[in-house]
Amino acid sequence: MTATIIDGKEAAKEMRQQLAEEVSRLKEKGVTPGLVVILIGDDPASLSYVRGKKKAAETMGMHFKLDHLEDTIEEDKLLSLIDQYNQDDSFHGILVQLPLPKHISEKAVIERISTEKDVDGFHPLNIGKMLLGEETFLPCTPAGIVELLKKTNTDLSGKEVVVIGRSNIVGKPVGQLLLNENATVTFCHSRTKDIGAHTRKADILIVAVGKAHFLTADQIKEGAIVIDVGVNRLDSGKLVGDVDFEAAKEKASYITPVPGGVGPMTITMLAHNTVKSAKNRM
Ligand code: GUN
Repeated sequence: MTATIIDGKEAAKEMRQQLAEEVSRLKEKGVTPGLVVILIGDDPASLSYVRGKKKAAETMGMHFKLDHLEDTIEEDKLLSLIDQYNQDDSFHGILVQLPLPKHISEKAVIERISTEKDVDGFHPLNIGKMLLGEETFLPCTPAGIVELLKKTNTDLSGKEVVVIGRSNIVGKPVGQLLLNENATVTFCHSRTKDIGAHTRKADILIVAVGKAHFLTADQIKEGAIVIDVGVNRLDSGKLVGDVDFEAAKEKASYITPVPGGVGPMTITMLAHNTVKSAKNRM
């Protein structure tokens, strides 16, 4: 079998067109959805992600501000800045780009962002709501993955899903969202004894470990759907995912490429959450 490539760029483009229309309708009513991104330091990957967010937000007609801070900023100062944005009506979404410098507590930062402006969906209260299946801001990468799976017209109910990776940003929440869709979800991680024994049973595989060529074709069941969340830069400069794409695409029914798979959808879901927040305020 040769897999159909799930085109994340195209899916994102369609959704961005709809969002742009929604932004213009909101603007006619006097509300411009606004997003502020706080970036601390000059990590090249973070800079590149933030540029993507800015471009997407501006293309959709949203108000975007980048607050770029020195990596020596004290935690107290950062928390006061978040307080300021919590009060500022021109911003409906606040995103603090992770990872943070070691002297700043990620937990303190995430918990300081107003739950009503938490467009990352990382606040414990919003994660709790997601767990309960209540209406809230869904974390962007997991929500984007669910949208991509819907593009394959697969009924998720009863499907064997294996998630590799258990991060708070991707692994844990994507498993939860798919459980909410009635899938049977298994989480694999660095302590799992025999990952292949699990993956070979999976109808849907979600790989989010951050290691190039981590998932090989022999670990994939014929006809499985493979979602590759990894973004790894090889010494050659080439960007690759966590899946051995060339071999895996001969076994999977659907597969996401890197780049051009999950990434564009993540940014689109951030815009979606910002528009949702603006509408909540009306
Ligand atoms: N760093 C890598 N991914 C993310 C994300 O989704 N949100 C934030 N805030 N930082 C990140």
